[in-house]
Amino acid sequence: MASFPQLRLRRLRRTGALREMLQETRLNVKDLIYPLFAVPGRGVKREIPSLPGNFHLSSDLLAKEAESIAKLGIPAILLFGLPQTKDETGSGAYNAKGVVQKAIKEIKRAVPEVVIVTDVCLCEYTEHGHCGVVIDGQVDNDKTLELIARTALSHAEAGADMVAPSAMMDGQVAAIRNELDANGFKDTIILSYAAKYASAFYGPFREAAECAPRFGDRRPYQLDPPSMRQALREVELDIQEGADIIMVKPALAYLDIIAHVRYRFHYPIAAYNVSGEFAMVKAAAQKGWLDEEACVREVLTAIKRAGADLIITYHAKEAARWLK
Ligand code: PBG
Repeated sequence: MASFPQLRLRRLRRTGALREMLQETRLNVKDLIYPLFAVPGRGVKREIPSLPGNFHLSSDLLAKEAESIAKLGIPAILLFGLPQTKDETGSGAYNAKGVVQKAIKEIKRAVPEVVIVTDVCLCEYTEHGHCGVVIDGQVDNDKTLELIARTALSHAEAGADMVAPSAMMDGQVAAIRNELDANGFKDTIILSYAAKYASAFYGPFREAAECAPRFGDRRPYQLDPPSMRQALREVELDIQEGADIIMVKPALAYLDIIAHVRYRFHYPIAAYNVSGEFAMVKAAAQKGWLDEEACVREVLTAIKRAGADLIITYHAKEAARWLK
């Protein structure tokens, strides 16, 4: 058995060519999903202050954006919507003429090959900003299910390839699968936000999507950050209910969760490199404190090394250029 000085681990790292051929994780543009925010109107393009380089776009400009995303080789987008008006039950979420439904149609018409994933939740559409129907100051799980299922069906009818429920209601995956199958959408994929934590890293997104809760917080429904076993049970249950792809969110502070889900379940895993994770790197890079490209490569590679197959990231467009 060789040992030092015969055994030298540095041998394998001596040159760039050696390091590259022995590299264990390879980031690919096909791993990436780019989030986009749909707003009403035509010709609307507003930069999101908390997410530099990301925009609120009307459906006509989203179609253009989808074309440039496809040219970069990015296979998929994740769509969020900011409706004209909000109400108690988030009716904008399941309106056939809603902002996301319109955007799906226009994007599909312009770029049929782009994989459209839609966020299925009520928080951007409710006045109170919670992810479900509020009764006596509490989010009512069971009353929310029907509206979430309707939202998912309306996205599928508009042409979405995957629906991604993010409300963390018990039974939401089963409710969606039943509704889709009952209406002939047996091939619509469910990408479930199965392990979604109540994270402070969603801060910039809540500004971007105007969905911060007006009272209370999301801790009664999203996962508690110190817990791992609850996350694994959420994943297990969503798989039983019919999820096709499992999401862990956020990614960076939860790499251990991604790794455990990878070992335990034989399902594709998506990880959401959330708004606060993007903002940290972006802001430090703007101050000249970090090398942005190197950090983004390292972050995305780490998420993949932990076990993610797909990475949802606001860095997707820049990363696609760097990966060319
Ligand atoms: C909606 C939703 C949120 C995010 C994705 N879908 C916000 C939340 O749960 O408060 C966060 C995304 C990000 O921070 O990039 N339920």
